[in-house]
Amino acid sequence: MNTLLVTGSSGLIGSEVCVHFAGRGWSVIGLDNNQRASFFGPQGDTRWNQQRLQVQLGDQFQHVELDIRDRNGVLALIDQLRPDAIVHTAAQPSHDRAAAIPFDDFDTNAVGTLNLLEAVRRSCAESPFVHLSTNKVYGDRPNNIALQELETRWDYADPVYAGGISESFPIDQSKHSLFGASKVAADVMVQEYGRYFGIPSCCLRGGCLTGPNHSGVELHGFLSYLVKCNLEGRLYKVFGYKGKQVRDNIHSRDVARFIEAFIAAPRVAEVYNLGGGRENSCSIWEAFKIAEQHSGKAQVFEYVDENRIGDHICYISDLSKMREHYPEWEISISLNETIGQIVRSWQNREALV
Ligand SMILES: NC(=O)c1ccc[n+]([C@@H]2O[C@H](COP(=O)([O-])OP(=O)(O)OC[C@H]3O[C@@H](n4cnc5c(N)ncnc54)[C@H](O)[C@@H]3O)[C@@H](O)[C@H]2O)c1
Repeated sequence: MNTLLVTGSSGLIGSEVCVHFAGRGWSVIGLDNNQRASFFGPQGDTRWNQQRLQVQLGDQFQHVELDIRDRNGVLALIDQLRPDAIVHTAAQPSHDRAAAIPFDDFDTNAVGTLNLLEAVRRSCAESPFVHLSTNKVYGDRPNNIALQELETRWDYADPVYAGGISESFPIDQSKHSLFGASKVAADVMVQEYGRYFGIPSCCLRGGCLTGPNHSGVELHGFLSYLVKCNLEGRLYKVFGYKGKQVRDNIHSRDVARFIEAFIAAPRVAEVYNLGGGRENSCSIWEAFKIAEQHSGKAQVFEYVDENRIGDHICYISDLSKMREHYPEWEISISLNETIGQIVRSWQNREALV
């Protein structure tokens, strides 16, 4: 039986990857220390998801309580397990939160990733390493692309970007937020361990990764938090850009499917922009409308004229490199279906409380 190590296993992407690979007969070791609750308070608590995995996956899943900043702990664990593949999703994931906790942010995102890479190099250098990076590595440079204002959203005016932003987009000389900078460090380090040491590896530069198992909070988890506010009648603050800012959203299951394709036929030091593409993109206003259709409740919101620092006005991932390298992979879950699942998931979680 193949063994997969998943860091951040109680989070949105980590938990989806655990379920996906267990369903394909892998033995899954999930590493998480519920750090999300430290970053975001009780609303970010992921223990419910850890327990869900333990119940649902039974013997095929083992939870390891470890902090990826614990270098010796990480080195010892990977030496003991020698996993057949590693999916690294543990992170301080918020753009806005990072400025208040710069040491925690960098130690987790940059140094934690280095700890894992070096452990893999020493103990299982042939095992594919999949790293969840972010489109924030491009900083706010996407905001320099010429835009056109449509009725409910911004869109690219420059035809070069009609298909979205590709991996050749520059990553430096722009404002990243401390989070974006710590993720750049990790992203480049993953590529380096690939190129320099030959470790099969990729960085997945995520747009909005979403799905029913996110513990969405105001500072992270756009659609999950928006839907939670909708269901609870809680005030949702729209920050700047007339609420027409565009994100492309990909369901966590489609992320897990891509990771499976990569691990089955790994390459070295690859970089992919991973999002929902144009078809699964929406502005905040458009997301409100879809959430309202599913919940039957009007969204309560307030418009704040100031945008979040460095926030993208319009970001759509160009998925052509993913499709070219892994033609059997395709987006399989629509935005409408994803939002419907998030609505039902929050309703079920409320019912459990
Ligand atoms: N969700 C998105 O929209 C999005 C977008 C772009 C990139 N990403 C990236 O994808 C990855 C996964 O994101 P997510 O949305 O699943 O995040 P998440 O917060 O839901 O999950 C991350 C998990 O990692 C754990 N964790 C954090 N620090 C840890 C540490 N020091 N040691 C051990 N565990 C730790 C947390 O407790 C949490 O369960 C992250 O690298 C994130 O930057 C996410």
